[in-house]
Amino acid sequence: ARTAAVIPAAGLGTRLGPGTPKALRPLGGTPILVHAVRAMALARAVDLVVVVAPHDGVAEVRRLLDAHPLPAYDVTEVLVVPGGENRQESVGRGLAALPTDVDVVLVHDAARPLVPLDTVAAVIAAVRAGAAAVVPGMPLADTVKEVEPAAGSGGPETVTGTPERGRLRAVQTPQGFDRAVLDEAHRRIGLEGEGATDDAGMVERLGRPVLIVPGHEEAFKITRPLDLVLAEAVLARRRA
Ligand code: CTP
Ligand code: MG
Repeated sequence: ARTAAVIPAAGLGTRLGPGTPKALRPLGGTPILVHAVRAMALARAVDLVVVVAPHDGVAEVRRLLDAHPLPAYDVTEVLVVPGGENRQESVGRGLAALPTDVDVVLVHDAARPLVPLDTVAAVIAAVRAGAAAVVPGMPLADTVKEVEPAAGSGGPETVTGTPERGRLRAVQTPQGFDRAVLDEAHRRIGLEGEGATDDAGMVERLGRPVLIVPGHEEAFKITRPLDLVLAEAVLARRRA
């Protein structure tokens, strides 16, 4: 029985701006992906990491990871497989590469390179304690509105509702799963449009319970340019 982490890293990072795929851009001089792999390998329970690389970037990612090896005492094995058109498809390809003896799977965005060890450990512990699916969640600072898309292009959207903020959680990764449950979700829930943006959502659609453990501010996703500024500051504070 082994624990594996699948790291979808095949996205372009369009919202971050033009350039190299997001996971390969530097953070504190080291590629974002390398930070994410280290964050997973730091958890003693994680035996295997599967990196889902940009479709044409498998060889480049392999070289990059070989150039930034894990510490010698860390026995985590690292595989690299090519990604798909959207996140859901990329995760599916990572799952397909898992050996049969893996029974707990974490799915972790490469774009969340600074997730603390405690968060990773809490997710693994909750799955090992019997939960089918576990996600780190944070209370929201902003009130959230549900909207009706604008009629024409560029017109204002209309608010259709305001969910009670206290009952909402912004979810992060790693999300942890009983391997059989996540495999079934990926087998049974079809791809539509952009695909699912979150693996737990697919498990919910199977009717299986999903539990929340406390998330962490530093597990934020690098999405827009300001997030990269924040990530550099967090890293500098850690290194100080
Ligand atoms: N991802 C992936 N395969 C895709 C699309 C996304 O593996 N086809 C990964 C990204 O690399 C990222 C994670 O899913 O680690 C979360 O996605 P997101 O933050 O949206 O990253 P991008 O899709 O790269 O960014 P953008 O949407 O701005 O282009
Ligand atoms: Mg995206």
